Amino acid sequence: MKSQLGMHSSCVREIKENRTTKPHVLPIYATSSFELDSIDQGINIFTGKEKGHVYSRYGNPTMETVAKKIALLESHDLPGIEAEAILFSSGMSAILTLMLGMLKSGDKILTQANLYGGTTEQFLKILKPNGIDPLFIDLADLDRVDQALNNDKAIKMIYGESPANPTMACLDLKALANLAKKHGVTTAIDNTFPSPYLQQPFGFGVDFIVHSTTKYLNGHGNSLAGVLVAQDAQLLHEKIWPIMKLAGTNGNPWDAWLINNGLKTLALRMDKHSANAMWVAEYLTQHPRISQ
Ligand SMILES: Cc1ncc(COP(=O)(O)O)c(C=O)c1O
Repeated sequence: MKSQLGMHSSCVREIKENRTTKPHVLPIYATSSFELDSIDQGINIFTGKEKGHVYSRYGNPTMETVAKKIALLESHDLPGIEAEAILFSSGMSAILTLMLGMLKSGDKILTQANLYGGTTEQFLKILKPNGIDPLFIDLADLDRVDQALNNDKAIKMIYGESPANPTMACLDLKALANLAKKHGVTTAIDNTFPSPYLQQPFGFGVDFIVHSTTKYLNGHGNSLAGVLVAQDAQLLHEKIWPIMKLAGTNGNPWDAWLINNGLKTLALRMDKHSANAMWVAEYLTQHPRISQ
């Protein structure tokens, strides 16, 4: 029988998946766009009336599944917290999208001088020239934090990193979140170094968590990406997602898949990293040539 399609059309046509049972491992949805059953379905998804996918910059099943998993880890055993997350192309783009989504020109960020260097540069070279000023103080000095928030009503966010890269300096997240609540400002913490296995900032009342998933979450050095997790899912959908979509700071399904693979051993790796670090610390502590 003569085919209804020409050879050229048969070459480009996707055939239906020959799947009978569910795959054991998350599939990589390497697709820019998604088929729609009707124009109405397309309009409904575009306008948010119906759940679904249209274009991978807006959302993609592989990316969303992995973001959900990280949100679950960040809220694991924290009753009442239903966090949601978005994957980004890098840790840097997660931080930038957070700032562009939550702040406007004239707002200020209260932060620390010992952030990861790239974050400091981003604040100084991108945010500051565009009217969002970073104020660098010692966030471990809680009286100073309180004073700064009292004196400057333009401060709209406390942004911390704990432990910080590379100094390992730590912050009192609970005290910072309480001060932020007292003054009605948002808190965001870079949780890259501890990962949710060792520290869950939502348990201390923090609003947003960012990660360079490039580090412990992926854990194998074969992917570069970031994630932003929010306690308030509505805030994430209304303030962050539109900026991600328009700035094109979204992640991609390949990196999402690699993160997912890495996450399976997160707990094992963090236990081993911690044990190794303790071994080194104890060795150095008793070493005659080490004073501090
Ligand atoms: C603590 C911390 N935050 C953010 C970043 C930036 O992440 P990325 O390199 O994935 O953009 C890094 C990178 O080293 C980091 O160490």
